[in-house]
Amino acid sequence: MVLLKEKLEELEYKGEKKDIKIGIIGAGYVGLVTSVGLSYKGYDVLVFEKNKEKLSLLKKGISPFYEPDLHRFLTSALNSGRLKFIDEVSQIIKECKYIYICVGTPIKEDQTYDMFFLDLAAKEIANHLPTNERKIIIIKSTVPPGTARWFQKIIYRYRRGKKTNIEVASIPEFLREGNAIYDFFNPNRIIIGIDNKEIVDDLRQIYHDFPSPIIIVSTIEAELIKLASNTFLATKISFINSISDICEQLGCDIENVRMGIGLDHRIGLDFLKPGIGFGGSCLPKDLNAIISLFKEKQIDPVLFEAVKKINNDRINLLLNKIKKALWNVKGKNITIWGISFKAGTDDIRESPTLKLIPMLLKEGANLILYDPKATNNFKNQYPQYSVNTSIKITENIYESVVNSNLIVITNDWEDYKKVNFSKIYELMETPIIIDGRNILDHALISEHGFEYYRIGVNHESS
Ligand SMILES: NC(=O)c1ccc[n+]([C@@H]2O[C@H](COP(=O)([O-])OP(=O)(O)OC[C@H]3O[C@@H](n4cnc5c(N)ncnc54)[C@H](O)[C@@H]3O)[C@@H](O)[C@H]2O)c1
Repeated sequence: MVLLKEKLEELEYKGEKKDIKIGIIGAGYVGLVTSVGLSYKGYDVLVFEKNKEKLSLLKKGISPFYEPDLHRFLTSALNSGRLKFIDEVSQIIKECKYIYICVGTPIKEDQTYDMFFLDLAAKEIANHLPTNERKIIIIKSTVPPGTARWFQKIIYRYRRGKKTNIEVASIPEFLREGNAIYDFFNPNRIIIGIDNKEIVDDLRQIYHDFPSPIIIVSTIEAELIKLASNTFLATKISFINSISDICEQLGCDIENVRMGIGLDHRIGLDFLKPGIGFGGSCLPKDLNAIISLFKEKQIDPVLFEAVKKINNDRINLLLNKIKKALWNVKGKNITIWGISFKAGTDDIRESPTLKLIPMLLKEGANLILYDPKATNNFKNQYPQYSVNTSIKITENIYESVVNSNLIVITNDWEDYKKVNFSKIYELMETPIIIDGRNILDHALISEHGFEYYRIGVNHESS
Protein backbone atom coordinates (compact mmCIF):
# COMPACT_ATOMS: atom_id res chain seq x y z
CA MET A 1 0.00 0.00 0.00
CA VAL A 2 1.30 3.48 -0.81
CA LEU A 3 2.14 5.40 2.33
CA LEU A 4 0.88 8.96 2.25
CA LYS A 5 3.42 11.55 3.27
CA GLU A 6 1.14 12.90 6.02
CA LYS A 7 0.87 9.38 7.44
CA LEU A 8 4.61 9.03 7.96
CA GLU A 9 4.17 10.69 11.35
CA GLU A 10 1.80 7.93 12.40
CA LEU A 11 3.93 5.04 11.22
CA GLU A 12 4.66 2.97 14.26
CA TYR A 13 7.57 0.65 14.65
CA LYS A 14 5.80 -2.65 14.83
CA GLY A 15 6.22 -4.37 11.48
CA GLU A 16 6.24 -8.17 11.66
CA LYS A 17 9.64 -9.71 12.37
CA LYS A 18 11.30 -11.60 9.51
CA ASP A 19 13.87 -14.26 9.98
CA ILE A 20 16.51 -12.72 7.73
CA LYS A 21 19.67 -10.86 8.69
CA ILE A 22 20.86 -8.04 6.45
CA GLY A 23 24.23 -6.32 6.60
CA ILE A 24 24.86 -2.74 5.51
CA ILE A 25 28.33 -1.39 4.75
CA GLY A 26 28.48 2.42 4.91
CA ALA A 27 26.03 4.50 6.96
CA GLY A 28 25.72 7.74 5.00
CA TYR A 29 22.45 9.10 3.60
CA VAL A 30 21.77 5.93 1.62
CA GLY A 31 23.09 3.34 4.07
CA LEU A 32 21.45 4.76 7.17
CA VAL A 33 18.05 5.29 5.56
CA THR A 34 18.19 1.78 4.08
CA SER A 35 19.14 0.38 7.51
CA VAL A 36 16.31 1.97 9.48
CA GLY A 37 13.85 1.23 6.66
CA LEU A 38 14.74 -2.45 6.38
CA SER A 39 14.68 -2.91 10.14
CA TYR A 40 11.23 -1.30 10.20
CA LYS A 41 10.21 -3.85 7.58
CA GLY A 42 11.11 -6.56 10.08
CA TYR A 43 14.67 -7.56 9.17
CA ASP A 44 17.54 -7.81 11.61
CA VAL A 45 20.04 -5.28 10.33
CA LEU A 46 23.73 -5.02 11.18
CA VAL A 47 25.50 -1.85 10.08
CA PHE A 48 29.21 -1.18 9.75
CA GLU A 49 30.44 2.37 9.27
CA LYS A 50 34.18 2.84 9.00
CA ASN A 51 34.21 6.44 10.23
CA LYS A 52 34.63 5.97 14.01
CA GLU A 53 33.13 9.34 14.91
CA LYS A 54 29.98 8.62 12.90
CA LEU A 55 29.79 5.09 14.29
CA SER A 56 29.90 6.28 17.87
CA LEU A 57 27.13 8.85 17.22
CA LEU A 58 25.01 6.18 15.54
CA LYS A 59 25.39 3.82 18.46
CA LYS A 60 23.92 6.56 20.66
CA GLY A 61 21.01 6.97 18.28
CA ILE A 62 22.29 10.25 16.84
CA SER A 63 22.26 10.70 13.08
CA PRO A 64 25.45 12.36 11.77
CA PHE A 65 23.33 14.36 9.32
CA TYR A 66 19.92 15.98 9.21
CA GLU A 67 17.10 14.16 7.44
CA PRO A 68 13.42 14.68 8.30
CA ASP A 69 11.89 11.79 10.31
CA LEU A 70 15.20 9.93 10.46
CA HIS A 71 15.80 10.52 14.16
CA ARG A 72 12.45 9.00 15.10
CA PHE A 73 13.01 5.94 12.92
CA LEU A 74 16.56 5.51 14.16
CA THR A 75 15.47 5.64 17.81
CA SER A 76 12.65 3.11 17.26
CA ALA A 77 14.92 0.80 15.28
CA LEU A 78 17.57 0.79 18.01
CA ASN A 79 14.97 0.33 20.76
CA SER A 80 13.44 -2.62 18.92
CA GLY A 81 16.81 -4.39 18.97
CA ARG A 82 16.51 -5.09 15.24
CA LEU A 83 19.13 -2.52 14.26
CA LYS A 84 22.70 -2.77 15.50
CA PHE A 85 25.78 -0.71 14.71
CA ILE A 86 28.83 -2.91 14.95
CA ASP A 87 32.60 -2.43 15.23
CA GLU A 88 33.79 -5.22 12.97
CA VAL A 89 32.72 -5.59 9.35
CA SER A 90 33.61 -9.30 9.63
CA GLN A 91 30.46 -9.86 11.71
CA ILE A 92 28.29 -8.76 8.77
CA ILE A 93 30.14 -10.94 6.32
CA LYS A 94 29.94 -13.98 8.55
CA GLU A 95 26.34 -13.60 9.75
CA CYS A 96 24.36 -11.96 6.94
CA LYS A 97 23.19 -13.60 3.73
CA TYR A 98 22.41 -10.20 2.17
CA ILE A 99 25.12 -7.53 2.23
CA TYR A 100 24.27 -4.02 0.99
CA ILE A 101 27.12 -1.83 -0.21
CA CYS A 102 26.27 1.82 0.45
CA VAL A 103 29.71 3.43 0.42
CA GLY A 104 30.44 6.74 -1.27
CA THR A 105 31.59 6.98 -4.88
CA PRO A 106 32.89 10.55 -5.15
CA ILE A 107 34.09 11.96 -8.43
CA LYS A 108 37.82 12.24 -9.10
CA GLU A 109 39.62 15.13 -10.78
CA ASP A 110 39.41 13.32 -14.12
CA GLN A 111 35.59 13.32 -13.72
CA THR A 112 35.27 9.56 -13.26
CA TYR A 113 34.05 7.82 -10.12
CA ASP A 114 36.51 7.06 -7.38
CA MET A 115 36.18 3.32 -6.73
CA PHE A 116 38.45 3.33 -3.68
CA PHE A 117 35.70 2.69 -1.10
CA LEU A 118 34.14 -0.05 -3.20
CA ASP A 119 37.50 -1.72 -3.63
CA LEU A 120 38.02 -1.56 0.13
CA ALA A 121 34.60 -3.12 0.73
CA ALA A 122 35.37 -5.91 -1.79
CA LYS A 123 38.62 -6.66 0.02
CA GLU A 124 36.91 -6.76 3.42
CA ILE A 125 34.25 -9.11 2.09
CA ALA A 126 36.84 -11.36 0.46
CA ASN A 127 38.94 -11.51 3.63
CA HIS A 128 36.08 -12.65 5.87
CA LEU A 129 33.89 -14.68 3.54
CA PRO A 130 33.02 -18.08 4.98
CA THR A 131 33.82 -20.86 2.50
CA ASN A 132 30.85 -22.15 0.51
CA GLU A 133 28.18 -20.11 2.30
CA ARG A 134 25.94 -18.36 -0.23
CA LYS A 135 26.08 -14.55 0.03
CA ILE A 136 24.18 -12.01 -2.03
CA ILE A 137 25.93 -8.67 -2.31
CA ILE A 138 23.79 -5.74 -3.36
CA ILE A 139 25.41 -2.58 -4.66
CA LYS A 140 23.30 0.50 -3.78
CA SER A 141 26.02 3.05 -4.47
CA THR A 142 25.84 4.86 -7.80
CA VAL A 143 28.51 3.36 -10.01
CA PRO A 144 29.59 3.17 -13.65
CA PRO A 145 27.95 0.44 -15.73
CA GLY A 146 29.91 -2.77 -15.35
CA THR A 147 30.76 -2.26 -11.66
CA ALA A 148 28.76 -5.19 -10.23
CA ARG A 149 30.58 -7.57 -12.57
CA TRP A 150 33.91 -6.01 -11.62
CA PHE A 151 33.04 -6.23 -7.94
CA GLN A 152 32.43 -9.96 -8.24
CA LYS A 153 35.70 -10.41 -10.13
CA ILE A 154 37.65 -8.37 -7.57
CA ILE A 155 36.31 -10.45 -4.69
CA TYR A 156 37.40 -13.63 -6.46
CA ARG A 157 40.79 -12.05 -7.03
CA TYR A 158 41.23 -11.14 -3.36
CA ARG A 159 40.09 -14.69 -2.43
CA ARG A 160 43.14 -16.08 -4.25
CA GLY A 161 41.47 -19.31 -5.30
CA LYS A 162 39.62 -20.04 -2.02
CA LYS A 163 36.10 -21.49 -2.45
CA THR A 164 33.63 -18.66 -2.93
CA ASN A 165 29.86 -18.62 -3.38
CA ILE A 166 28.70 -15.08 -4.02
CA GLU A 167 26.36 -13.25 -6.36
CA VAL A 168 26.57 -9.52 -6.89
CA ALA A 169 23.37 -7.62 -7.69
CA SER A 170 22.79 -3.96 -8.45
CA ILE A 171 19.78 -2.26 -6.85
CA PRO A 172 20.39 1.44 -7.41
CA GLU A 173 19.06 3.95 -4.91
CA PHE A 174 16.72 6.76 -5.99
CA LEU A 175 15.97 8.45 -2.66
CA ARG A 176 15.84 12.23 -2.46
CA GLU A 177 17.59 13.84 0.48
CA GLY A 178 14.95 15.72 2.46
CA ASN A 179 12.37 13.03 1.55
CA ALA A 180 14.53 9.98 2.07
CA ILE A 181 12.42 8.10 4.62
CA TYR A 182 9.26 8.63 2.61
CA ASP A 183 11.08 7.56 -0.54
CA PHE A 184 12.37 4.41 1.13
CA PHE A 185 8.81 3.23 1.75
CA ASN A 186 7.43 4.49 -1.57
CA PRO A 187 10.01 4.13 -4.32
CA ASN A 188 8.58 4.92 -7.78
CA ARG A 189 10.14 1.68 -8.92
CA ILE A 190 12.57 -0.92 -7.68
CA ILE A 191 15.24 -1.81 -10.18
CA ILE A 192 16.79 -5.19 -9.50
CA GLY A 193 19.88 -5.80 -11.59
CA ILE A 194 21.09 -9.40 -11.65
CA ASP A 195 23.16 -11.54 -13.96
CA ASN A 196 22.11 -14.86 -12.48
CA LYS A 197 18.37 -15.61 -12.58
CA GLU A 198 18.73 -18.02 -9.65
CA ILE A 199 18.77 -15.11 -7.19
CA VAL A 200 15.62 -13.37 -8.47
CA ASP A 201 13.45 -14.94 -5.78
CA ASP A 202 15.95 -14.13 -3.04
CA LEU A 203 15.78 -10.48 -3.97
CA ARG A 204 12.04 -10.36 -4.64
CA GLN A 205 11.61 -11.72 -1.13
CA ILE A 206 13.21 -8.58 0.34
CA TYR A 207 11.10 -6.21 -1.75
CA HIS A 208 7.80 -8.08 -1.99
CA ASP A 209 5.85 -5.78 0.35
CA PHE A 210 6.85 -2.48 -1.23
CA PRO A 211 4.05 -0.69 -3.14
CA SER A 212 6.19 -0.31 -6.23
CA PRO A 213 6.73 -2.04 -9.55
CA ILE A 214 9.80 -4.26 -9.58
CA ILE A 215 11.81 -4.33 -12.77
CA ILE A 216 14.31 -7.13 -13.27
CA VAL A 217 17.22 -6.25 -15.54
CA SER A 218 20.90 -7.10 -15.90
CA THR A 219 23.36 -5.49 -13.48
CA ILE A 220 24.79 -3.31 -16.24
CA GLU A 221 21.30 -2.13 -17.22
CA ALA A 222 20.47 -1.30 -13.59
CA GLU A 223 23.64 0.75 -13.31
CA LEU A 224 22.88 2.60 -16.54
CA ILE A 225 19.26 3.25 -15.49
CA LYS A 226 20.50 5.08 -12.39
CA LEU A 227 23.01 7.20 -14.31
CA ALA A 228 20.57 7.98 -17.10
CA SER A 229 17.77 8.90 -14.67
CA ASN A 230 19.91 11.47 -12.90
CA THR A 231 21.17 12.80 -16.21
CA PHE A 232 17.60 13.22 -17.40
CA LEU A 233 16.70 15.20 -14.27
CA ALA A 234 19.77 17.38 -14.76
CA THR A 235 18.75 17.92 -18.39
CA LYS A 236 15.25 19.00 -17.35
CA ILE A 237 16.70 21.59 -14.97
CA SER A 238 19.11 22.99 -17.55
CA PHE A 239 16.29 23.03 -20.09
CA ILE A 240 14.01 25.18 -17.93
CA ASN A 241 16.93 27.38 -16.95
CA SER A 242 17.57 28.07 -20.64
CA ILE A 243 13.91 28.86 -21.19
CA SER A 244 14.04 31.20 -18.19
CA ASP A 245 16.88 33.12 -19.87
CA ILE A 246 14.82 33.74 -22.99
CA CYS A 247 11.85 34.72 -20.81
CA GLU A 248 13.97 37.50 -19.34
CA GLN A 249 14.76 38.77 -22.83
CA LEU A 250 11.19 38.53 -24.15
CA GLY A 251 9.49 40.06 -21.13
CA CYS A 252 7.74 36.81 -20.21
CA ASP A 253 7.30 35.38 -16.73
CA ILE A 254 8.89 31.94 -16.45
CA GLU A 255 6.31 30.90 -13.83
CA ASN A 256 3.52 31.23 -16.42
CA VAL A 257 5.60 29.57 -19.09
CA ARG A 258 6.67 26.61 -16.94
CA MET A 259 3.06 25.95 -15.95
CA GLY A 260 2.07 25.95 -19.58
CA ILE A 261 4.83 23.49 -20.41
CA GLY A 262 4.74 21.29 -17.33
CA LEU A 263 1.02 20.63 -17.20
CA ASP A 264 1.49 18.50 -20.28
CA HIS A 265 1.59 15.06 -18.65
CA ARG A 266 4.29 13.95 -21.04
CA ILE A 267 6.53 16.65 -19.58
CA GLY A 268 5.45 17.21 -15.95
CA LEU A 269 6.23 20.03 -13.53
CA ASP A 270 8.76 18.16 -11.40
CA PHE A 271 12.32 19.34 -11.91
CA LEU A 272 10.96 22.07 -14.17
CA LYS A 273 11.78 24.96 -11.83
CA PRO A 274 14.27 27.62 -12.84
CA GLY A 275 17.02 28.60 -10.46
CA ILE A 276 20.71 29.05 -9.96
CA GLY A 277 21.69 25.56 -11.09
CA PHE A 278 21.66 22.12 -9.54
CA GLY A 279 24.14 20.94 -6.93
CA GLY A 280 24.33 18.13 -4.41
CA SER A 281 26.30 14.93 -4.31
CA CYS A 282 24.46 13.22 -7.16
CA LEU A 283 23.41 15.22 -10.24
CA PRO A 284 26.71 17.02 -10.99
CA LYS A 285 28.68 13.85 -10.29
CA ASP A 286 26.51 11.53 -12.36
CA LEU A 287 26.39 14.01 -15.23
CA ASN A 288 30.19 14.15 -15.27
CA ALA A 289 30.34 10.39 -15.13
CA ILE A 290 28.04 9.92 -18.11
CA ILE A 291 30.10 12.42 -20.10
CA SER A 292 33.25 10.44 -19.28
CA LEU A 293 31.52 7.19 -20.17
CA PHE A 294 30.41 8.51 -23.57
CA LYS A 295 33.91 9.80 -24.30
CA GLU A 296 35.43 6.47 -23.28
CA LYS A 297 33.09 4.71 -25.71
CA GLN A 298 33.77 7.37 -28.37
CA ILE A 299 30.20 8.66 -28.51
CA ASP A 300 29.76 12.43 -28.62
CA PRO A 301 28.29 13.57 -25.26
CA VAL A 302 27.14 16.86 -26.83
CA LEU A 303 23.76 16.90 -25.05
CA PHE A 304 25.26 16.29 -21.62
CA GLU A 305 28.11 18.75 -22.17
CA ALA A 306 25.47 21.40 -22.91
CA VAL A 307 23.52 20.50 -19.76
CA LYS A 308 26.71 20.89 -17.75
CA LYS A 309 27.70 24.17 -19.38
CA ILE A 310 24.26 25.69 -18.82
CA ASN A 311 24.44 24.63 -15.19
CA ASN A 312 27.92 25.98 -14.64
CA ASP A 313 26.94 29.35 -16.15
CA ARG A 314 24.03 29.84 -13.73
CA ILE A 315 26.18 31.11 -10.90
CA ASN A 316 27.71 33.82 -13.13
CA LEU A 317 24.24 34.92 -14.13
CA LEU A 318 23.33 35.18 -10.44
CA LEU A 319 26.47 37.19 -9.73
CA ASN A 320 25.57 39.57 -12.57
CA LYS A 321 22.07 40.01 -11.15
CA ILE A 322 23.58 40.90 -7.78
CA LYS A 323 26.03 43.34 -9.35
CA LYS A 324 23.29 44.96 -11.41
CA ALA A 325 20.94 45.30 -8.45
CA LEU A 326 23.58 46.79 -6.14
CA TRP A 327 25.33 48.97 -8.73
CA ASN A 328 28.43 48.78 -6.48
CA VAL A 329 29.21 45.58 -4.58
CA LYS A 330 32.40 46.61 -2.76
CA GLY A 331 31.76 47.24 0.93
CA LYS A 332 28.13 46.09 0.74
CA ASN A 333 26.60 43.66 3.21
CA ILE A 334 25.07 40.74 1.35
CA THR A 335 22.92 38.19 3.14
CA ILE A 336 22.80 34.69 1.72
CA TRP A 337 19.83 32.56 2.72
CA GLY A 338 20.87 29.03 1.82
CA ILE A 339 24.01 26.98 2.34
CA SER A 340 22.79 23.43 1.71
CA PHE A 341 22.23 22.54 -1.92
CA LYS A 342 18.47 22.32 -1.42
CA ALA A 343 15.79 22.43 1.28
CA GLY A 344 15.26 19.55 3.69
CA THR A 345 18.92 18.67 4.16
CA ASP A 346 22.12 19.91 5.77
CA ASP A 347 24.15 18.44 2.90
CA ILE A 348 26.37 21.13 1.39
CA ARG A 349 28.16 18.95 -1.17
CA GLU A 350 28.38 20.85 -4.50
CA SER A 351 26.05 23.55 -3.21
CA PRO A 352 25.93 26.55 -5.59
CA THR A 353 26.41 28.78 -2.53
CA LEU A 354 29.94 27.44 -2.19
CA LYS A 355 30.73 28.87 -5.62
CA LEU A 356 28.99 32.17 -4.93
CA ILE A 357 30.84 32.93 -1.67
CA PRO A 358 34.36 33.37 -3.15
CA MET A 359 32.93 35.33 -6.08
CA LEU A 360 31.26 37.84 -3.77
CA LEU A 361 34.30 38.05 -1.50
CA LYS A 362 36.40 38.84 -4.56
CA GLU A 363 34.03 41.71 -5.34
CA GLY A 364 34.71 43.09 -1.84
CA ALA A 365 31.35 42.27 -0.23
CA ASN A 366 30.76 41.38 3.41
CA LEU A 367 28.67 38.25 3.73
CA ILE A 368 26.15 37.13 6.32
CA LEU A 369 25.15 33.48 5.90
CA TYR A 370 22.01 31.82 7.16
CA ASP A 371 20.56 28.35 6.65
CA PRO A 372 17.95 26.51 8.75
CA LYS A 373 20.13 23.39 9.10
CA ALA A 374 23.49 23.62 7.33
CA THR A 375 25.49 26.23 9.28
CA ASN A 376 27.31 23.62 11.41
CA ASN A 377 28.30 21.54 8.41
CA PHE A 378 29.56 24.68 6.74
CA LYS A 379 31.63 25.72 9.76
CA ASN A 380 33.11 22.23 10.09
CA GLN A 381 33.93 21.74 6.43
CA TYR A 382 35.12 25.30 5.70
CA PRO A 383 36.87 26.42 8.91
CA GLN A 384 38.73 29.09 6.93
CA TYR A 385 35.47 30.99 6.51
CA SER A 386 34.76 31.00 10.26
CA VAL A 387 37.87 33.11 10.81
CA ASN A 388 37.31 35.36 7.78
CA THR A 389 36.27 38.78 9.08
CA SER A 390 34.22 39.42 5.91
CA ILE A 391 31.91 36.51 6.73
CA LYS A 392 29.42 36.14 9.51
CA ILE A 393 27.45 32.92 9.99
CA THR A 394 24.26 33.13 12.00
CA GLU A 395 21.55 30.80 13.26
CA ASN A 396 19.01 33.59 13.37
CA ILE A 397 17.32 34.71 10.19
CA TYR A 398 16.53 38.21 11.49
CA GLU A 399 20.11 38.72 12.66
CA SER A 400 21.21 37.77 9.14
CA VAL A 401 19.62 40.89 7.65
CA VAL A 402 20.69 43.60 10.10
CA ASN A 403 22.17 46.45 7.99
CA SER A 404 22.09 44.22 4.94
CA ASN A 405 22.02 45.72 1.46
CA LEU A 406 20.67 42.67 -0.30
CA ILE A 407 19.35 39.19 0.43
CA VAL A 408 20.11 36.49 -2.10
CA ILE A 409 18.13 33.25 -1.74
CA THR A 410 20.04 30.23 -2.95
CA ASN A 411 18.04 27.25 -1.69
CA ASP A 412 14.36 26.55 -1.28
CA TRP A 413 13.49 26.11 2.40
CA GLU A 414 9.81 26.79 3.12
CA ASP A 415 11.02 28.59 6.29
CA TYR A 416 11.92 31.67 4.25
CA LYS A 417 8.29 32.18 3.29
CA LYS A 418 7.23 32.31 6.92
CA VAL A 419 9.39 35.20 8.15
CA ASN A 420 7.99 38.59 9.07
CA PHE A 421 8.92 40.59 6.00
CA SER A 422 7.94 43.91 7.59
CA LYS A 423 10.57 43.26 10.23
CA ILE A 424 13.10 42.16 7.58
CA TYR A 425 12.40 45.39 5.67
CA GLU A 426 13.03 47.50 8.77
CA LEU A 427 16.28 45.72 9.64
CA MET A 428 17.90 46.06 6.21
CA GLU A 429 19.82 49.12 5.06
CA THR A 430 18.59 48.75 1.47
CA PRO A 431 15.74 46.24 1.13
CA ILE A 432 16.57 44.28 -2.00
CA ILE A 433 15.88 40.56 -2.50
CA ILE A 434 17.18 38.37 -5.30
CA ASP A 435 15.23 35.14 -5.19
CA GLY A 436 17.44 32.57 -6.89
CA ARG A 437 14.82 29.84 -6.46
CA ASN A 438 11.59 31.81 -7.14
CA ILE A 439 10.08 30.66 -3.87
CA LEU A 440 8.63 33.87 -2.45
CA ASP A 441 5.28 35.35 -3.38
CA HIS A 442 6.42 38.25 -5.52
CA ALA A 443 3.23 40.33 -5.13
CA LEU A 444 3.44 40.07 -1.34
CA ILE A 445 7.14 40.86 -1.19
CA SER A 446 6.78 43.86 -3.48
CA GLU A 447 3.84 45.09 -1.37
CA HIS A 448 6.18 45.22 1.60
CA GLY A 449 8.28 47.67 -0.38
CA PHE A 450 11.20 45.44 -1.35
CA GLU A 451 12.98 45.65 -4.66
CA TYR A 452 12.44 42.03 -5.63
CA TYR A 453 14.12 40.15 -8.46
CA ARG A 454 13.29 36.62 -9.57
CA ILE A 455 14.78 34.25 -12.12
CA GLY A 456 13.19 34.24 -15.56
CA VAL A 457 11.48 37.64 -15.40
CA ASN A 458 12.56 40.86 -17.09
CA HIS A 459 12.40 43.36 -14.26
CA GLU A 460 13.09 46.31 -16.50
CA SER A 461 9.92 45.69 -18.48
CA SER A 462 7.72 44.80 -15.46
N1 LIG B 1 22.78 10.96 -1.07
C1 LIG B 1 21.87 10.70 -1.98
O1 LIG B 1 20.87 11.40 -2.11
C2 LIG B 1 22.02 9.50 -2.87
C3 LIG B 1 20.91 9.04 -3.59
C4 LIG B 1 21.06 7.93 -4.43
C5 LIG B 1 22.30 7.33 -4.56
N2 LIG B 1 23.37 7.82 -3.88
C6 LIG B 1 24.65 7.12 -4.05
O2 LIG B 1 24.83 6.26 -2.92
C7 LIG B 1 26.20 6.23 -2.52
C8 LIG B 1 26.34 6.69 -1.08
O3 LIG B 1 25.89 8.02 -1.01
P1 LIG B 1 25.75 8.79 0.39
O4 LIG B 1 25.18 10.13 0.09
O5 LIG B 1 25.08 7.90 1.37
O6 LIG B 1 27.31 8.92 0.76
P2 LIG B 1 27.94 9.31 2.15
O7 LIG B 1 29.27 9.83 1.86
O8 LIG B 1 26.97 10.14 2.94
O9 LIG B 1 28.06 7.91 2.91
C9 LIG B 1 28.96 6.90 2.59
C10 LIG B 1 29.43 6.29 3.90
O10 LIG B 1 30.15 5.09 3.66
C11 LIG B 1 31.21 5.03 4.60
N3 LIG B 1 32.20 4.07 4.08
C12 LIG B 1 33.01 4.19 3.01
N4 LIG B 1 33.73 3.06 2.83
C13 LIG B 1 33.35 2.20 3.80
C14 LIG B 1 33.70 0.87 4.14
N5 LIG B 1 34.59 0.19 3.42
N6 LIG B 1 33.13 0.30 5.21
C15 LIG B 1 32.21 0.97 5.93
N7 LIG B 1 31.82 2.24 5.66
C16 LIG B 1 32.38 2.84 4.61
C17 LIG B 1 31.70 6.45 4.72
O11 LIG B 1 32.43 6.66 5.90
C18 LIG B 1 30.37 7.22 4.68
O12 LIG B 1 29.84 7.42 5.98
C19 LIG B 1 26.95 7.10 -3.53
O13 LIG B 1 27.39 6.29 -4.57
C20 LIG B 1 25.87 8.04 -4.04
O14 LIG B 1 26.14 8.51 -5.33
C21 LIG B 1 23.26 8.87 -3.02
